[in-house]
Amino acid sequence: MDRPAWAPEGVDMSQASPARMYDALLGGSHNFEVDRNAAEMGKRLVPDLPRLALSNRAFLRRAVRYLSNAGIRQFLDIGSGIPTAGNVHEVAHALDPAARVLYADIDPVAVTHARTILIGDDNADAIEADLRKPDDLLALAERTGQIDFAEPVGLLLVAVLHLVRDDERPRELVERLRAALPTGSHVAISHLTSALRPEDAARLGEQSANRTHTGIIFRDRAAITAMFDGWELIEPGVVELPLWHPESERDLHETPGRSLGLAGVGRKV
Ligand SMILES: C[S@@+](CC[C@H](N)C(=O)[O-])C[C@H]1O[C@@H](n2cnc3c(N)ncnc32)[C@H](O)[C@@H]1O
Repeated sequence: MDRPAWAPEGVDMSQASPARMYDALLGGSHNFEVDRNAAEMGKRLVPDLPRLALSNRAFLRRAVRYLSNAGIRQFLDIGSGIPTAGNVHEVAHALDPAARVLYADIDPVAVTHARTILIGDDNADAIEADLRKPDDLLALAERTGQIDFAEPVGLLLVAVLHLVRDDERPRELVERLRAALPTGSHVAISHLTSALRPEDAARLGEQSANRTHTGIIFRDRAAITAMFDGWELIEPGVVELPLWHPESERDLHETPGRSLGLAGVGRKV
């Protein structure tokens, strides 16, 4: 298969990537056949999978609005994914055109596409960086000039920590990031969970382990809540994706009681 113009040189088109599979689930156009096949296989196992992706995007948008209303003026979005409708910079800039947004992702397709759509936008940028190397990521973020680490930051870890294995110590990574941010900073986390639909979670976890390098780790409620250690949890705490500050009926993509994701927002005090 020829490499499409949007795909950076050297990209492995034979192995599905979480960023491109998620793009395929959301109906995006920056994915390869291998990603679409993996997304289709996921849908065969769990037919409402696209609703989970929509539900997660809706949480992301609500969290950005919440943080903006709480006075956050700069966002560091780690595991930002391939840009799609309702991106963080669009949501943040709708409320505050001067807000700054820095996207960070490990996937070159995600970063290249983000940079393309951000051309001409002085208040948003994208870096290729690995959450599992937080010191390098923070240094790179600082060099872009988008994030002032003396001012409160809105840290977004949305649908990314379930791609970090236990032996890579996801909780400690969040703690390292928390330590680098000033008081008044916030974190928004969403995470795939085995809490409500353990059988579907097990099926999807197994499929992803076969199809991608990383695999998806569906964690239980206690493990996801532990990611907020050291942060003051904002009400209503760690809840199903559609139940975190729903703004309208349209936010209820998943049936409450059956969400495959948990989410919450914490504040550094
Ligand atoms: C499911 S997508 C989520 C995208 C976006 N945050 C959202 O919720 O709509 C997960 C993203 O995390 C990225 N990712 C996975 N592991 C990462 C790592 N170690 N460091 C940075 N990004 C990572 C993937 O490339 C992918 O783009």
